[in-house]
Amino acid sequence: MIYDVVIIGAGAAGLMCAAQAGYAGKRVLVLDHANKAGKKILMSGGGRCNFTNLGTTPQHFYSSNPYFCISALKRYRPEHFVELVERHGVEHVEKTPGQLFCATSAKEIVRALLTECEWAGADIKLSTQITRVAQQGSAMRLSTSIGNIDAGVVVVACGGLSIPSMGATGFGYDIARQFGLEVFATRPGLVPFTLSDTWKARAAELSGVSVPVAVSANSRRFVEPMLFTHRGLSGPAMLQISSVWQPGENLTVDLLPGESVAESLREARQATPKRQLSTWLGERFPKRLAQALLEWYPDHDPARPLAQYANAALDEWGARLNTWQLKPAGTEGWRTAEVTMGGVNTDAVSSKTFEVKGLPQLRFIGEVLDVTGELGGYNFQWAWASGVACGQSC
Ligand code: FDA
Repeated sequence: MIYDVVIIGAGAAGLMCAAQAGYAGKRVLVLDHANKAGKKILMSGGGRCNFTNLGTTPQHFYSSNPYFCISALKRYRPEHFVELVERHGVEHVEKTPGQLFCATSAKEIVRALLTECEWAGADIKLSTQITRVAQQGSAMRLSTSIGNIDAGVVVVACGGLSIPSMGATGFGYDIARQFGLEVFATRPGLVPFTLSDTWKARAAELSGVSVPVAVSANSRRFVEPMLFTHRGLSGPAMLQISSVWQPGENLTVDLLPGESVAESLREARQATPKRQLSTWLGERFPKRLAQALLEWYPDHDPARPLAQYANAALDEWGARLNTWQLKPAGTEGWRTAEVTMGGVNTDAVSSKTFEVKGLPQLRFIGEVLDVTGELGGYNFQWAWASGVACGQSC
């Protein structure tokens, strides 16, 4: 079999690239070892796929080269993908400002991408194992479970390591290393935290409780909801900070962002001296959390009115609530991580065509590269944008 372009990976970036290369008149084949295309798209956004973010800028991405993503993101913007989904009649909703989700199901996005591939004449072969990718003169040869395939260009769109049960492998990194590219160390990103014994038990008791917080680590701060789980902490705030957190480090959690607890308590002591701390907490937190806070810090006497609290005690509550220090035991790891931090060093890859410098018949797109977005639709926008840039230039 001979194709102009063979794409490894029928995920977000691979399907987008296939359609564009097909429209450009190329004979295109997409190979995937999974039995279904776009498995991660299907499970994304709680089954509704947060397919883009209208506020996408390069600042929403982590990479050792922060300039690499600029060109593709500029050329293929969120509005372009919105146009595409609307062309396919996909209804969508803006849940949080800028974050667009399918109104019904993520299946709609996969359907739109597969239709695009069909219109563009791109072939897709699933349940296909690829054992070897080798340079063959000016072309490439793939050894696969359906025989040898020759290609003018091979595009590696294998994604990252998150959720191995959905088909994630390190194959893209293996190919990069085979051709002499550097692969930066990988680690799970956008992943829930696990806690150790005491805090794990406390979190488990509050499982399901969600509160808005500001969480900081490593000079980054996110103001988003935090969710207590059976094993630790999750929710957008924790997923976001997990991408910058390093094992062994503390998180600083402000449980009442925008309110200085020490000052508020002083004012409350002045205005309503008979009020109890439990009442004050109950006005600010879900009942279960307010109760738990009093149990975690048993220096508190429930019957004592605020008037009997010295400044030092109020300051201590201020520190507990505004700068709660917490050391996660770890993260849930690849099993539940949404993305992979690190990956193929972009220095060896063109930011315009995504070809390997000095080896234009090999290209890398999507999450396999060392470009990772924050939570909120940025990762798919990167997959679409890199797929389009590569596909159009094939
Ligand atoms: P992707 O992972 O989509 O595709 C890679 C493909 O390569 C897969 O089909 C895989 O089977 C195939 N493959 C791997 N190894 C292979 C091999 N050895 N041989 C052949 N094929 C191979 N992002 C976002 O913007 N909004 C969201 O709502 C979410 N939600 C979300 C939820 C969950 C649970 C996860 C795990 C992830 C998200 N994401 C997300 C992240 C998003 O899914 C991710 O960034 C993109 O899918 C990356 O697109 P790629 O095409 O690069 O990889």
